[in-house]
Amino acid sequence: MAKLFAVKPLSVISREACEEGTHTLRRSLGPINLITLGIGAIIGAGIFVLTGTAAAQFAGPAIVLSFVVAGVGCVFAGLCYAEFAAMIPIAGSAYTYGYTTLGELVAWIIGWALCLEYAFGAATVAVGWSGYVSSLLGFFGVRLPFNPTPSLSMTLFGHALSARVDIFALAAIIVVTGVLVVGVRESANFNSAAVMIKVSVVLFFIGIATVFAFGHWPHMMANWHPFIPKNLGHFGQYGWTGIMRGASVVFFAYIGFDAVSTAAQEAKNPQKDLPFGILGSLIICTILYIIVSGLLTGLKSYTTLNTPAPVADGAAAIGATWGVCLIDLGAIAGLASVMLVMILGQTRVLYTMSCDGLLPRWVGRIHPRFRTPWLITMAVGVLVAFLAAFFNISFLGQLVSLGTLLAFTIVCLGVWVMRVRQPDVPRPFRTPWVPLVPILGMIISTALMVSTDLPAKIGFFSWLIIGLLIYFGYSTRHSKVQNAAVQVTQGK
Ligand code: ALA
Repeated sequence: MAKLFAVKPLSVISREACEEGTHTLRRSLGPINLITLGIGAIIGAGIFVLTGTAAAQFAGPAIVLSFVVAGVGCVFAGLCYAEFAAMIPIAGSAYTYGYTTLGELVAWIIGWALCLEYAFGAATVAVGWSGYVSSLLGFFGVRLPFNPTPSLSMTLFGHALSARVDIFALAAIIVVTGVLVVGVRESANFNSAAVMIKVSVVLFFIGIATVFAFGHWPHMMANWHPFIPKNLGHFGQYGWTGIMRGASVVFFAYIGFDAVSTAAQEAKNPQKDLPFGILGSLIICTILYIIVSGLLTGLKSYTTLNTPAPVADGAAAIGATWGVCLIDLGAIAGLASVMLVMILGQTRVLYTMSCDGLLPRWVGRIHPRFRTPWLITMAVGVLVAFLAAFFNISFLGQLVSLGTLLAFTIVCLGVWVMRVRQPDVPRPFRTPWVPLVPILGMIISTALMVSTDLPAKIGFFSWLIIGLLIYFGYSTRHSKVQNAAVQVTQGK
Protein backbone atom coordinates (compact mmCIF):
# COMPACT_ATOMS: atom_id res chain seq x y z
CA MET A 1 0.00 0.00 0.00
CA ALA A 2 2.79 2.40 0.98
CA LYS A 3 4.30 1.80 -2.47
CA LEU A 4 1.30 3.47 -4.09
CA PHE A 5 2.27 6.66 -2.31
CA ALA A 6 5.99 6.36 -3.03
CA VAL A 7 7.34 9.79 -3.95
CA LYS A 8 9.98 10.49 -6.54
CA PRO A 9 12.88 12.29 -4.80
CA LEU A 10 13.67 15.81 -5.96
CA SER A 11 17.36 14.92 -6.28
CA VAL A 12 16.53 12.24 -8.89
CA ILE A 13 14.29 14.64 -10.82
CA SER A 14 16.93 17.38 -10.80
CA ARG A 15 19.49 14.89 -12.20
CA GLU A 16 17.08 13.82 -14.95
CA ALA A 17 16.30 17.44 -15.82
CA CYS A 18 20.00 18.16 -16.40
CA GLU A 19 20.70 15.16 -18.67
CA GLU A 20 21.92 16.02 -22.17
CA GLY A 21 22.57 13.88 -25.27
CA THR A 22 20.93 12.45 -28.37
CA HIS A 23 18.49 10.45 -26.22
CA THR A 24 17.12 13.64 -24.63
CA LEU A 25 14.89 16.49 -25.81
CA ARG A 26 16.64 19.47 -27.44
CA ARG A 27 16.89 22.73 -25.44
CA SER A 28 16.06 25.43 -27.94
CA LEU A 29 13.22 27.56 -26.53
CA GLY A 30 13.79 31.08 -25.15
CA PRO A 31 11.41 33.30 -23.10
CA ILE A 32 9.55 34.69 -26.14
CA ASN A 33 9.02 31.16 -27.52
CA LEU A 34 7.56 30.13 -24.16
CA ILE A 35 5.19 33.10 -23.93
CA THR A 36 3.99 32.46 -27.51
CA LEU A 37 3.55 28.77 -26.70
CA GLY A 38 1.28 29.83 -23.85
CA ILE A 39 -0.73 32.26 -25.99
CA GLY A 40 -0.75 29.61 -28.72
CA ALA A 41 -2.52 27.18 -26.40
CA ILE A 42 -4.85 29.71 -24.77
CA ILE A 43 -6.52 31.84 -27.49
CA GLY A 44 -8.82 29.58 -29.51
CA ALA A 45 -12.39 28.35 -29.63
CA GLY A 46 -13.08 29.73 -26.16
CA ILE A 47 -12.97 33.42 -27.03
CA PHE A 48 -14.15 33.08 -30.63
CA VAL A 49 -17.21 30.90 -29.87
CA LEU A 50 -18.01 30.41 -26.18
CA THR A 51 -18.11 34.11 -25.21
CA GLY A 52 -21.34 34.63 -27.14
CA THR A 53 -22.98 31.40 -26.03
CA ALA A 54 -22.22 32.00 -22.36
CA ALA A 55 -23.36 35.66 -22.48
CA ALA A 56 -26.63 34.78 -24.23
CA GLN A 57 -27.54 31.80 -22.08
CA PHE A 58 -26.09 32.43 -18.64
CA ALA A 59 -24.52 35.77 -17.75
CA GLY A 60 -25.66 38.57 -20.10
CA PRO A 61 -23.25 41.56 -20.25
CA ALA A 62 -21.87 40.32 -16.90
CA ILE A 63 -19.97 37.72 -18.96
CA VAL A 64 -17.11 40.14 -18.30
CA LEU A 65 -17.35 39.15 -14.61
CA SER A 66 -17.41 35.45 -15.62
CA PHE A 67 -14.11 36.06 -17.43
CA VAL A 68 -12.76 37.82 -14.33
CA VAL A 69 -13.77 34.91 -12.02
CA ALA A 70 -12.31 32.23 -14.35
CA GLY A 71 -9.21 34.39 -14.99
CA VAL A 72 -8.57 34.95 -11.26
CA GLY A 73 -8.94 31.19 -10.59
CA CYS A 74 -6.42 30.53 -13.37
CA VAL A 75 -3.99 33.15 -12.04
CA PHE A 76 -4.01 31.41 -8.61
CA ALA A 77 -3.33 28.06 -10.30
CA GLY A 78 -0.81 29.73 -12.65
CA LEU A 79 1.18 31.08 -9.68
CA CYS A 80 1.36 27.55 -8.23
CA TYR A 81 2.39 26.11 -11.61
CA ALA A 82 5.10 28.78 -11.88
CA GLU A 83 6.63 27.78 -8.51
CA PHE A 84 6.69 24.09 -9.41
CA ALA A 85 7.85 24.61 -13.00
CA ALA A 86 10.87 26.64 -11.87
CA MET A 87 11.68 24.22 -9.02
CA ILE A 88 11.09 20.98 -10.99
CA PRO A 89 11.74 21.86 -14.66
CA ILE A 90 10.75 18.55 -16.21
CA ALA A 91 8.39 17.76 -19.10
CA GLY A 92 5.90 15.84 -16.93
CA SER A 93 4.43 19.10 -15.54
CA ALA A 94 1.62 18.51 -13.00
CA TYR A 95 2.21 14.74 -13.19
CA THR A 96 5.80 15.14 -11.93
CA TYR A 97 4.81 17.75 -9.34
CA GLY A 98 2.29 15.23 -7.98
CA TYR A 99 4.96 12.50 -7.97
CA THR A 100 7.31 14.47 -5.71
CA THR A 101 4.65 15.63 -3.26
CA LEU A 102 1.63 13.30 -3.06
CA GLY A 103 3.01 10.02 -4.40
CA GLU A 104 2.77 7.75 -7.41
CA LEU A 105 -0.94 6.97 -7.41
CA VAL A 106 -1.91 10.65 -7.32
CA ALA A 107 0.72 11.37 -9.99
CA TRP A 108 -0.81 8.71 -12.22
CA ILE A 109 -4.28 10.18 -11.72
CA ILE A 110 -3.01 13.65 -12.69
CA GLY A 111 -1.14 12.28 -15.72
CA TRP A 112 -4.29 10.48 -16.79
CA ALA A 113 -6.42 13.60 -16.20
CA LEU A 114 -3.94 15.63 -18.28
CA CYS A 115 -4.80 13.37 -21.24
CA LEU A 116 -8.30 14.82 -20.94
CA GLU A 117 -6.86 18.32 -21.04
CA TYR A 118 -4.39 17.85 -23.88
CA ALA A 119 -5.56 15.02 -26.20
CA PHE A 120 -9.28 15.67 -25.68
CA GLY A 121 -8.58 19.43 -25.83
CA ALA A 122 -6.89 19.08 -29.22
CA ALA A 123 -9.81 16.96 -30.44
CA THR A 124 -12.37 19.53 -29.26
CA VAL A 125 -10.55 22.25 -31.14
CA ALA A 126 -10.18 20.04 -34.25
CA VAL A 127 -13.98 19.63 -34.36
CA GLY A 128 -14.42 23.44 -34.31
CA TRP A 129 -11.58 24.13 -36.77
CA SER A 130 -13.14 22.92 -39.98
CA GLY A 131 -16.28 25.03 -39.38
CA TYR A 132 -14.12 28.14 -39.69
CA VAL A 133 -12.34 26.82 -42.80
CA SER A 134 -15.70 26.18 -44.51
CA SER A 135 -16.93 29.63 -43.43
CA LEU A 136 -13.82 31.36 -44.84
CA LEU A 137 -14.06 29.45 -48.12
CA GLY A 138 -17.76 30.41 -48.28
CA PHE A 139 -16.84 34.07 -47.75
CA PHE A 140 -14.72 33.94 -50.91
CA GLY A 141 -17.48 32.08 -52.77
CA VAL A 142 -15.52 28.80 -52.95
CA ARG A 143 -17.84 25.82 -53.16
CA LEU A 144 -16.28 22.42 -52.55
CA PRO A 145 -17.05 19.68 -55.09
CA PHE A 146 -17.26 17.17 -52.19
CA ASN A 147 -18.73 17.00 -48.71
CA PRO A 148 -15.86 17.79 -46.30
CA THR A 149 -17.54 15.97 -43.43
CA PRO A 150 -18.90 12.67 -44.74
CA SER A 151 -20.52 10.45 -42.14
CA LEU A 152 -19.53 6.82 -41.78
CA SER A 153 -21.80 4.22 -40.23
CA MET A 154 -20.81 0.78 -39.08
CA THR A 155 -22.15 -1.98 -36.89
CA LEU A 156 -20.14 -3.27 -33.98
CA PHE A 157 -21.37 -6.03 -31.65
CA GLY A 158 -24.85 -5.41 -32.99
CA HIS A 159 -24.75 -1.64 -32.27
CA ALA A 160 -24.82 0.96 -35.01
CA LEU A 161 -22.00 3.50 -34.65
CA SER A 162 -21.58 6.61 -36.68
CA ALA A 163 -18.59 8.89 -37.07
CA ARG A 164 -17.84 12.11 -38.97
CA VAL A 165 -14.70 11.95 -41.03
CA ASP A 166 -13.98 15.63 -41.04
CA ILE A 167 -11.51 16.04 -43.89
CA PHE A 168 -10.31 19.52 -42.84
CA ALA A 169 -9.89 18.50 -39.21
CA LEU A 170 -8.03 15.37 -40.28
CA ALA A 171 -5.72 17.38 -42.56
CA ALA A 172 -5.01 19.84 -39.71
CA ILE A 173 -4.18 17.01 -37.29
CA ILE A 174 -1.85 15.37 -39.84
CA VAL A 175 0.02 18.65 -40.56
CA VAL A 176 0.33 19.57 -36.87
CA THR A 177 1.52 16.06 -35.93
CA GLY A 178 4.06 16.16 -38.78
CA VAL A 179 5.47 19.50 -37.61
CA LEU A 180 5.73 18.17 -34.05
CA VAL A 181 7.64 15.09 -35.18
CA VAL A 182 10.14 17.16 -37.18
CA GLY A 183 11.28 19.30 -34.26
CA VAL A 184 10.40 21.51 -31.33
CA ARG A 185 12.07 24.56 -32.90
CA GLU A 186 10.04 24.10 -36.10
CA SER A 187 6.91 23.67 -33.97
CA ALA A 188 7.69 26.86 -32.05
CA ASN A 189 8.13 28.79 -35.34
CA PHE A 190 4.83 27.44 -36.71
CA ASN A 191 3.18 28.41 -33.45
CA SER A 192 4.68 31.93 -33.44
CA ALA A 193 3.28 32.64 -36.93
CA ALA A 194 -0.19 31.43 -35.88
CA VAL A 195 -0.05 33.46 -32.65
CA MET A 196 0.89 36.61 -34.55
CA ILE A 197 -2.16 36.21 -36.80
CA LYS A 198 -4.65 35.50 -34.03
CA VAL A 199 -3.43 38.21 -31.67
CA SER A 200 -3.54 40.74 -34.55
CA VAL A 201 -7.12 39.72 -35.28
CA VAL A 202 -8.13 40.12 -31.63
CA LEU A 203 -6.44 43.55 -31.53
CA PHE A 204 -8.19 44.55 -34.77
CA PHE A 205 -11.53 43.64 -33.23
CA ILE A 206 -10.71 45.65 -30.10
CA GLY A 207 -9.63 48.59 -32.29
CA ILE A 208 -12.75 48.78 -34.47
CA ALA A 209 -15.08 48.13 -31.55
CA THR A 210 -13.45 50.86 -29.44
CA VAL A 211 -13.73 53.42 -32.26
CA PHE A 212 -17.40 52.45 -32.65
CA ALA A 213 -17.99 52.68 -28.88
CA PHE A 214 -16.66 56.26 -28.68
CA GLY A 215 -18.95 57.34 -31.53
CA HIS A 216 -22.06 55.47 -30.31
CA TRP A 217 -21.95 55.62 -26.53
CA PRO A 218 -25.77 55.53 -25.96
CA HIS A 219 -26.00 52.37 -28.15
CA MET A 220 -23.32 50.65 -26.04
CA MET A 221 -24.93 51.75 -22.75
CA ALA A 222 -28.32 50.44 -23.89
CA ASN A 223 -26.84 47.00 -24.63
CA TRP A 224 -24.95 46.92 -21.32
CA HIS A 225 -28.15 47.56 -19.38
CA PRO A 226 -29.06 45.62 -17.24
CA PHE A 227 -25.45 44.63 -16.64
CA ILE A 228 -26.47 41.61 -14.53
CA PRO A 229 -29.84 40.42 -15.92
CA LYS A 230 -32.29 39.26 -13.24
CA ASN A 231 -32.14 35.55 -12.39
CA LEU A 232 -34.99 33.61 -14.04
CA GLY A 233 -35.57 31.38 -11.03
CA HIS A 234 -33.09 28.58 -11.81
CA PHE A 235 -29.43 28.10 -10.97
CA GLY A 236 -27.26 29.55 -13.73
CA GLN A 237 -29.96 31.45 -15.63
CA TYR A 238 -28.56 34.96 -15.24
CA GLY A 239 -28.00 36.74 -11.91
CA TRP A 240 -24.96 35.83 -9.78
CA THR A 241 -25.34 32.09 -10.35
CA GLY A 242 -25.39 32.81 -14.09
CA ILE A 243 -22.03 34.56 -13.71
CA MET A 244 -20.61 31.41 -12.05
CA ARG A 245 -22.08 29.12 -14.69
CA GLY A 246 -20.72 31.43 -17.39
CA ALA A 247 -17.32 31.23 -15.68
CA SER A 248 -17.36 27.42 -15.83
CA VAL A 249 -18.05 27.65 -19.59
CA VAL A 250 -15.51 30.35 -20.45
CA PHE A 251 -12.90 28.61 -18.28
CA PHE A 252 -12.24 26.61 -21.44
CA ALA A 253 -10.90 29.82 -23.04
CA TYR A 254 -8.06 29.95 -20.47
CA ILE A 255 -7.00 26.32 -20.74
CA GLY A 256 -3.51 25.88 -22.08
CA PHE A 257 -1.19 28.19 -20.10
CA ASP A 258 0.00 25.20 -18.09
CA ALA A 259 1.17 23.53 -21.33
CA VAL A 260 4.16 25.88 -21.16
CA SER A 261 5.45 23.83 -18.23
CA THR A 262 5.55 20.67 -20.38
CA ALA A 263 8.25 22.35 -22.51
CA ALA A 264 10.52 22.52 -19.43
CA GLN A 265 13.17 20.18 -20.85
CA GLU A 266 13.23 22.08 -24.13
CA ALA A 267 13.67 25.51 -22.49
CA LYS A 268 17.15 27.05 -22.50
CA ASN A 269 16.76 28.62 -19.06
CA PRO A 270 13.74 26.94 -17.45
CA GLN A 271 14.10 28.32 -13.91
CA LYS A 272 13.73 31.90 -15.08
CA ASP A 273 11.74 31.58 -18.29
CA LEU A 274 8.99 29.12 -17.32
CA PRO A 275 7.30 31.40 -14.73
CA PHE A 276 7.62 34.24 -17.28
CA GLY A 277 6.00 32.13 -20.02
CA ILE A 278 3.19 30.77 -17.82
CA LEU A 279 2.20 33.99 -16.07
CA GLY A 280 2.96 36.31 -18.99
CA SER A 281 0.74 34.43 -21.44
CA LEU A 282 -2.03 34.09 -18.86
CA ILE A 283 -2.05 37.78 -17.94
CA ILE A 284 -1.98 38.96 -21.60
CA CYS A 285 -4.90 36.67 -22.50
CA THR A 286 -6.94 37.59 -19.40
CA ILE A 287 -6.72 41.29 -20.30
CA LEU A 288 -7.63 40.62 -23.96
CA TYR A 289 -10.60 38.41 -22.98
CA ILE A 290 -12.06 40.94 -20.55
CA ILE A 291 -11.83 43.75 -23.13
CA VAL A 292 -13.23 41.62 -26.01
CA SER A 293 -16.19 40.32 -24.00
CA GLY A 294 -17.00 43.81 -22.65
CA LEU A 295 -16.97 45.37 -26.12
CA LEU A 296 -18.86 42.50 -27.76
CA THR A 297 -21.84 42.76 -25.40
CA GLY A 298 -21.90 46.52 -26.06
CA LEU A 299 -21.92 46.13 -29.86
CA LYS A 300 -24.78 43.62 -29.89
CA SER A 301 -27.46 42.75 -27.37
CA TYR A 302 -26.43 39.64 -25.42
CA THR A 303 -29.75 38.02 -26.40
CA THR A 304 -28.51 37.80 -30.02
CA LEU A 305 -25.07 36.36 -29.32
CA ASN A 306 -25.85 32.63 -29.21
CA THR A 307 -24.36 31.98 -32.67
CA PRO A 308 -21.44 29.87 -33.96
CA ALA A 309 -19.30 32.96 -34.63
CA PRO A 310 -20.38 35.72 -32.21
CA VAL A 311 -17.20 37.81 -32.48
CA ALA A 312 -17.49 37.89 -36.28
CA ASP A 313 -21.18 38.79 -35.90
CA GLY A 314 -20.19 41.64 -33.57
CA ALA A 315 -17.88 43.02 -36.28
CA ALA A 316 -20.58 42.60 -38.95
CA ALA A 317 -23.12 44.39 -36.72
CA ILE A 318 -21.10 47.61 -36.88
CA GLY A 319 -20.73 47.42 -40.64
CA ALA A 320 -17.30 45.73 -40.79
CA THR A 321 -18.44 42.81 -42.96
CA TRP A 322 -14.82 42.11 -43.90
CA GLY A 323 -14.35 41.57 -40.16
CA VAL A 324 -16.09 38.23 -40.59
CA CYS A 325 -13.36 37.05 -42.95
CA LEU A 326 -10.66 38.43 -40.67
CA ILE A 327 -12.06 36.72 -37.63
CA ASP A 328 -12.41 33.42 -39.49
CA LEU A 329 -8.73 33.74 -40.36
CA GLY A 330 -7.84 34.48 -36.71
CA ALA A 331 -9.84 31.48 -35.55
CA ILE A 332 -8.23 29.17 -38.14
CA ALA A 333 -4.72 30.24 -37.10
CA GLY A 334 -5.74 30.24 -33.43
CA LEU A 335 -7.21 26.79 -33.38
CA ALA A 336 -4.27 25.32 -35.34
CA SER A 337 -1.83 26.58 -32.72
CA VAL A 338 -4.03 25.34 -29.86
CA MET A 339 -3.95 21.86 -31.44
CA LEU A 340 -0.18 22.06 -31.83
CA VAL A 341 0.58 23.05 -28.24
CA MET A 342 -2.00 20.61 -26.79
CA ILE A 343 -0.55 17.65 -28.71
CA LEU A 344 2.96 18.81 -27.75
CA GLY A 345 1.93 18.90 -24.07
CA GLN A 346 0.30 15.49 -24.26
CA THR A 347 3.34 13.80 -25.76
CA ARG A 348 5.72 15.35 -23.21
CA VAL A 349 3.63 14.16 -20.25
CA LEU A 350 3.41 10.61 -21.68
CA TYR A 351 7.15 10.70 -22.46
CA THR A 352 7.90 11.47 -18.79
CA MET A 353 5.51 8.76 -17.58
CA SER A 354 7.34 6.28 -19.81
CA CYS A 355 10.75 7.39 -18.49
CA ASP A 356 9.37 6.63 -14.99
CA GLY A 357 8.36 3.12 -16.12
CA LEU A 358 4.61 3.77 -15.77
CA LEU A 359 4.08 3.41 -19.54
CA PRO A 360 5.91 1.15 -22.03
CA ARG A 361 9.41 2.14 -23.17
CA TRP A 362 8.47 2.83 -26.81
CA VAL A 363 6.40 5.81 -25.61
CA GLY A 364 9.58 7.58 -24.50
CA ARG A 365 11.68 6.73 -27.56
CA ILE A 366 13.39 9.83 -29.01
CA HIS A 367 14.12 10.21 -32.71
CA PRO A 368 17.94 10.38 -33.05
CA ARG A 369 17.85 13.21 -35.60
CA PHE A 370 14.74 15.23 -34.73
CA ARG A 371 15.17 14.72 -30.94
CA THR A 372 11.40 14.46 -30.50
CA PRO A 373 9.32 11.60 -29.01
CA TRP A 374 8.18 10.70 -32.52
CA LEU A 375 6.35 7.40 -31.96
CA ILE A 376 4.08 8.72 -29.23
CA THR A 377 3.55 11.96 -31.18
CA MET A 378 2.15 9.97 -34.10
CA ALA A 379 0.08 7.76 -31.76
CA VAL A 380 -1.42 10.85 -30.08
CA GLY A 381 -2.21 12.30 -33.54
CA VAL A 382 -4.20 9.14 -34.36
CA LEU A 383 -6.00 9.26 -30.98
CA VAL A 384 -6.95 12.93 -31.47
CA ALA A 385 -8.34 12.17 -34.96
CA PHE A 386 -10.37 9.29 -33.51
CA LEU A 387 -11.80 11.40 -30.67
CA ALA A 388 -12.66 14.24 -33.07
CA ALA A 389 -14.55 11.78 -35.28
CA PHE A 390 -16.68 10.18 -32.57
CA PHE A 391 -17.56 12.74 -29.90
CA ASN A 392 -19.53 15.97 -29.88
CA ILE A 393 -17.84 19.26 -29.06
CA SER A 394 -19.81 20.20 -25.95
CA PHE A 395 -19.21 16.84 -24.22
CA LEU A 396 -15.51 16.89 -25.15
CA GLY A 397 -15.16 20.51 -23.98
CA GLN A 398 -16.54 19.75 -20.52
CA LEU A 399 -14.33 16.67 -20.13
CA VAL A 400 -11.36 18.88 -20.99
CA SER A 401 -12.36 21.37 -18.29
CA LEU A 402 -12.83 18.63 -15.68
CA GLY A 403 -9.42 17.06 -16.40
CA THR A 404 -7.70 20.45 -16.29
CA LEU A 405 -9.44 21.54 -13.08
CA LEU A 406 -8.45 18.30 -11.31
CA ALA A 407 -4.82 18.92 -12.29
CA PHE A 408 -5.06 22.56 -11.09
CA THR A 409 -6.51 21.48 -7.73
CA ILE A 410 -3.74 18.94 -7.13
CA VAL A 411 -1.00 21.36 -8.21
CA CYS A 412 -2.32 24.00 -5.75
CA LEU A 413 -2.42 21.39 -2.97
CA GLY A 414 1.07 20.21 -3.95
CA VAL A 415 2.63 23.68 -3.58
CA TRP A 416 1.26 23.97 -0.06
CA VAL A 417 2.34 20.43 0.93
CA MET A 418 5.83 21.02 -0.48
CA ARG A 419 6.23 24.28 1.46
CA VAL A 420 5.43 22.42 4.69
CA ARG A 421 7.49 19.28 4.00
CA GLN A 422 10.50 20.76 2.24
CA PRO A 423 10.60 24.46 3.13
CA ASP A 424 14.31 24.85 2.34
CA VAL A 425 14.41 23.55 -1.23
CA PRO A 426 15.61 26.36 -3.54
CA ARG A 427 12.62 27.98 -5.25
CA PRO A 428 13.60 30.26 -8.16
CA PHE A 429 9.97 31.51 -8.17
CA ARG A 430 7.82 31.66 -5.02
CA THR A 431 4.00 31.72 -5.09
CA PRO A 432 2.96 34.69 -2.90
CA TRP A 433 0.74 34.31 0.20
CA VAL A 434 0.94 30.53 0.62
CA PRO A 435 -1.36 28.88 1.73
CA LEU A 436 -3.98 31.55 0.86
CA VAL A 437 -3.34 31.52 -2.92
CA PRO A 438 -3.32 27.67 -3.23
CA ILE A 439 -6.47 27.43 -1.08
CA LEU A 440 -8.31 30.01 -3.22
CA GLY A 441 -7.08 28.20 -6.37
CA MET A 442 -8.48 24.91 -5.02
CA ILE A 443 -11.82 26.48 -4.01
CA ILE A 444 -12.39 28.13 -7.41
CA SER A 445 -11.30 25.00 -9.33
CA THR A 446 -13.61 22.78 -7.28
CA ALA A 447 -16.54 25.21 -7.68
CA LEU A 448 -16.03 25.20 -11.46
CA MET A 449 -15.85 21.37 -11.52
CA VAL A 450 -19.13 21.14 -9.63
CA SER A 451 -20.82 23.43 -12.20
CA THR A 452 -20.31 21.01 -15.14
CA ASP A 453 -23.09 18.76 -16.55
CA LEU A 454 -23.86 15.26 -15.24
CA PRO A 455 -22.94 13.35 -18.48
CA ALA A 456 -19.52 15.00 -18.44
CA LYS A 457 -19.03 14.04 -14.79
CA ILE A 458 -19.96 10.42 -15.61
CA GLY A 459 -17.54 10.44 -18.58
CA PHE A 460 -14.84 11.87 -16.31
CA PHE A 461 -15.20 9.17 -13.65
CA SER A 462 -15.31 6.44 -16.31
CA TRP A 463 -12.04 7.79 -17.72
CA LEU A 464 -10.44 7.72 -14.25
CA ILE A 465 -11.55 4.10 -13.73
CA ILE A 466 -9.97 3.05 -17.06
CA GLY A 467 -6.78 4.82 -15.91
CA LEU A 468 -6.74 2.97 -12.58
CA LEU A 469 -7.16 -0.39 -14.37
CA ILE A 470 -4.08 0.38 -16.49
CA TYR A 471 -2.16 1.57 -13.43
CA PHE A 472 -2.83 -1.59 -11.40
CA GLY A 473 -2.53 -3.86 -14.46
CA TYR A 474 0.76 -2.48 -15.82
CA SER A 475 2.32 0.53 -14.14
CA THR A 476 2.77 -0.68 -10.55
CA ARG A 477 4.78 -3.65 -11.84
CA HIS A 478 7.09 -1.55 -14.01
CA SER A 479 7.44 1.59 -11.87
CA LYS A 480 11.11 2.57 -11.49
CA VAL A 481 10.43 4.36 -8.20
CA GLN A 482 8.71 1.29 -6.72
CA ASN A 483 11.45 -1.04 -8.00
CA ALA A 484 14.14 1.21 -6.55
CA ALA A 485 12.31 1.18 -3.19
CA VAL A 486 12.18 -2.65 -3.26
CA GLN A 487 15.92 -2.85 -4.03
CA VAL A 488 16.73 -0.48 -1.16
CA THR A 489 14.60 -2.57 1.22
CA GLN A 490 16.20 -5.83 0.05
CA GLY A 491 19.68 -4.35 0.36
CA LYS A 492 19.10 -3.53 4.05
N1 ALA B 1 -8.07 27.75 -24.54
C1 ALA B 1 -8.22 26.97 -25.71
C2 ALA B 1 -9.34 27.44 -26.57
O1 ALA B 1 -10.03 28.35 -26.19
C3 ALA B 1 -8.39 25.52 -25.36
O2 ALA B 1 -9.52 26.92 -27.65
